[in-house]
Amino acid sequence: MSQPTIESILQEKRTFSPNAEFSRDARIQSIEEYQKIYDRAAADPAAFWAELAERELHWFEKWDTILDWQPPVAKWFVGGKINISYNCLDRHLTTWRKNKAALIWEGEPGDSRTLTYAQLHREVCQMANVLKQLGVTKGDRVGLYMPMIPEAAIAMLACARIGAVHSVVFGGFSAEALRDRLSDGEAKLVITADGGYRKDAIVSLKAQVDKALANDAVPSVTNVLVVKRTGEAIDMESGRDRWWHDLQQTASADCPAEPMDSEDMLFILYTSGSTGKPKGVVHTTGGYNLYTHMTTQWTFDLKDTDVYWCTADVGWITGHSYIVYGPLSNGATSLMYEGVPRPSNPGCFWDVVEKYGVTIFYTAPTAIRAFIKMGEALPKARDLSSLRILGTVGEPINPEAWMWYHQVIGGERCPIVDTWWQTETGGFMLTPLPGATPTKPGSATLPFPGIIADVVDLDGNSVGDNEGGYLVVKHPWPSMMRTVYGDFDRFRRSYWEHIPPKDGKYVYFAGDGARRDEDGYFWVMGRVDDVISVSGHRLGTMEIESALVSHPAVAEAAVVGKPDDLKGESVVAFIILESNYTAGEELEKTLKQHVVSEIGAIARPGDIRFSDDLPKTRSGKIMRRLLRNLAAGEEITGDTSTLQDRSVLDKLREGA
Ligand code: WTA
Repeated sequence: MSQPTIESILQEKRTFSPNAEFSRDARIQSIEEYQKIYDRAAADPAAFWAELAERELHWFEKWDTILDWQPPVAKWFVGGKINISYNCLDRHLTTWRKNKAALIWEGEPGDSRTLTYAQLHREVCQMANVLKQLGVTKGDRVGLYMPMIPEAAIAMLACARIGAVHSVVFGGFSAEALRDRLSDGEAKLVITADGGYRKDAIVSLKAQVDKALANDAVPSVTNVLVVKRTGEAIDMESGRDRWWHDLQQTASADCPAEPMDSEDMLFILYTSGSTGKPKGVVHTTGGYNLYTHMTTQWTFDLKDTDVYWCTADVGWITGHSYIVYGPLSNGATSLMYEGVPRPSNPGCFWDVVEKYGVTIFYTAPTAIRAFIKMGEALPKARDLSSLRILGTVGEPINPEAWMWYHQVIGGERCPIVDTWWQTETGGFMLTPLPGATPTKPGSATLPFPGIIADVVDLDGNSVGDNEGGYLVVKHPWPSMMRTVYGDFDRFRRSYWEHIPPKDGKYVYFAGDGARRDEDGYFWVMGRVDDVISVSGHRLGTMEIESALVSHPAVAEAAVVGKPDDLKGESVVAFIILESNYTAGEELEKTLKQHVVSEIGAIARPGDIRFSDDLPKTRSGKIMRRLLRNLAAGEEITGDTSTLQDRSVLDKLREGA
């Protein structure tokens, strides 16, 4: 091999098969059935997607061309006319689902609301008419800066209904981060709320919007539409700011969905790279609708009786694809919860599961690690027997966290779907299908049908079984990102040039390291940018961290490389201990030895630092590049707008 890849040093052998009863009732019932669908899709992906697009979605007009692929530009269902808000709402109104719960919402203070499909449709139409009244037209960008309330979903669907492009900015981001994103997208209007509840406090969203727009910093914005949530006092700038509840009074509930070109832009969502400003990932309509629809249906084995709950915030791609669009397109009941586990109510998630009889629960490893730290007593005190499927997304899940999720939350009864995907991919790429795929703790298993994934070296050659390399996708799929908003060149550079095209064949570079085992299962080993190079061996972060977490003292671990004269880099491990352990030299030695016996001397941390917290993004991902700066004693460089809590860095620096 001419280029360095990534070495795999820790392998997990446990396997869990779906139980026979579950499989019998599942949409896809066996690994053989999956394989058949997969093979058919792989033989002709375009034909496979076209058949599903025809069967599963409403089109005002059918497409002329299924796929127009001029790398790296893919166009799906060219010439087709479609509206995702129609598919999520209108088409259910002519069925019994008209009065089915579309959204079940629970607020942090304990208030709640249920919207049937008919009710949701009505409010979406009203808001769409209000947007029109405020001068928003097809193609205009609308910024959303919302708490987790039904109006967040209503606003997204209202934009989609009239062909406006939404750009959701997570409600925990600062005014500066909001301003940058609104400016980049040249938003015409902002939809926000007076405030929202988070961890027993009020987050004053409107005040942040005021700050972001102060001194005409974003001249494109002409209006701000404000939803009343907390009732706190806010400034309303006359001429610019309007209350949603005022305008709703006179808004008609009749607003036919605009037939959109399949390739019309649906939304922009910003994702941060390690350097440079956040990228505005662009998704379009038809392909995104189809892909999120199918992945929700098959990966969650969706039934009409399900109460489906994804704990993400609508500010992330997970909220877009798997709280709003995927579930509603399927006519499912999607639960939305404003709260997060907090000192006053650490068990609130389990209360919600019990109260609503949640059947499908989808969360992130960072949450699972927090549950583990809080102990088994909380979930054990609630009736979780309604659960039938568990999901995880966002980071590689350490096998020990997977086992805990399986045993304590799933009662060893619920298949776990570990879904690997990205803002850029729009939907699940690697995932088990719960009735079909035997699972292995820590593996996102196999590609979704229609996805041609591989692990390659930097020349684009497939690596062998259990050899580490770069995760790539070799054929376009319907919900792939189309460009970086306003910067096509950055799109090309970031995703299509790391692995040079071979024989004119382009591959999508995901930026993750992975290996594939002898059963063809994929194991994601962490971001390529985080790889640690020790004495010429390139090590992914996931395996070393999993080895550390498998020691009973360790609640959470993050490893990074630190420059080392002899070895190139040495491993530095940041460790959060379980509450009944104390930091000290003895434990440090034990943990180093533990890594040596689990993996080998090559991965032995040169340095272990105990800490109470780790720097994370607001969606809970560990920001290793900041730890890298700390370990090397450098200034923090790069974008920190997504960092959840700055004080964590100061504490870590003091402790060093
Ligand atoms: C990581 C979230 C391992 C990965 C949907 C990816 C995962 C990045 C998994 C995208 C998983 C997400 N196993 N790693 N199941 N899911 N990742 O854009 O590094 O917020 O590239 O999208 O998260 O993060 P994003």
